[in-house]
Amino acid sequence: MAIIGRDTTIAGRYLSEGNVVAIPTETVYGLAADIRNGSALRRVFEIKQRPLSNPLIVHVGSVEEAQSLVREFPPLARHIAPQCWPGPLTMILPKSDLVSPLVTAGQDTVALRIPAHPLTLDLLQQTGLALAAPSANPFNYISPVTAAQVEAMLGAQIPYILDGGQCQRGLESTIIAFEDDRIILLRPGAFTEEDLAQLAGVPVLRKGKENTPAHPGMFKKHYSPRTPLLLSENPWEEAGQMWDKQVAVLYFGRMPESFGQHIKAFMLSPDGTSAGAAANLYNILHELDALGFDCIIAEPLPEEGLGRAVNDRLRKAAQRNA
Ligand code: TXA
Ligand code: MG
Repeated sequence: MAIIGRDTTIAGRYLSEGNVVAIPTETVYGLAADIRNGSALRRVFEIKQRPLSNPLIVHVGSVEEAQSLVREFPPLARHIAPQCWPGPLTMILPKSDLVSPLVTAGQDTVALRIPAHPLTLDLLQQTGLALAAPSANPFNYISPVTAAQVEAMLGAQIPYILDGGQCQRGLESTIIAFEDDRIILLRPGAFTEEDLAQLAGVPVLRKGKENTPAHPGMFKKHYSPRTPLLLSENPWEEAGQMWDKQVAVLYFGRMPESFGQHIKAFMLSPDGTSAGAAANLYNILHELDALGFDCIIAEPLPEEGLGRAVNDRLRKAAQRNA
């Protein structure tokens, strides 16, 4: 069992001594290690059972710190960094020699962001550490958005969980790369494409499957609950036909006045907004997965703003059944 606490000094000490510690961010909890410590980095992969070929995101406390970890900070990145950091945007940039190939899976680029969580920002700024942190879940399982979820999944393998409450955004960061003067979206996330295009002043390009740059972490199947999950525009109809199963419907639109006894209804967004759905998604998937349904049928959001990122995660969660 890990100690769960709110003490950044203790967390900092564990990290400086080469331990792996779970940290809160505004997106999801991360499983953090000092990027200078090879054995701590290896432990992160081991604990998550993540292939060494899947690179990690590095979290830093300032733009200057980020600059020290890259060879080049293109003008466009320089322009948007102060506007979106701290925040849920990860930039892929050419790495400097300070970044070990273990972090980047041997690639010449590093993924960087300044997280917008007060505790973790304190921790980073107090210690001056750069922390490599993937989401704090076993490989391919649902990302954690509370300290209790981290404890349940990985508590036995780490000494300390820095408890920052429930993650406000609830979805991983948006990942982008730069190509000439263009922004390439590699993973939709908590920072919307619309906001990004507006503040960058250039379009955000989504690469087609054929010419997507090599980024080993973008596996199709990801973020999956153990319970089979289907994505459906007509969740109630589809659930209605599964009368021999216990079905959870995770709905975003309307709930009908009546439905079969074998169906339980769960609202994806408590306030009806896509931000609410994003913030609630992993929490409710963790919960539903523990309830032992035969099947979860989820209704996608309109494909815009945060809806795109929520739908991306739902599609990946559904992949295991494909
Ligand atoms: O919100 C987040 O991004 C959370 C919190 C903890 O910061 N972290 C997170 O990490 O989602 P992870 O490891 O679950 O996802 C990181 C993704 C992976 O798909 C990985 O392949 C990709 O980032 N990535 C890391 N470094 C990269 C690089 N140099 N080039 C391309 N993709 C990279
Ligand atoms: Mg992850």
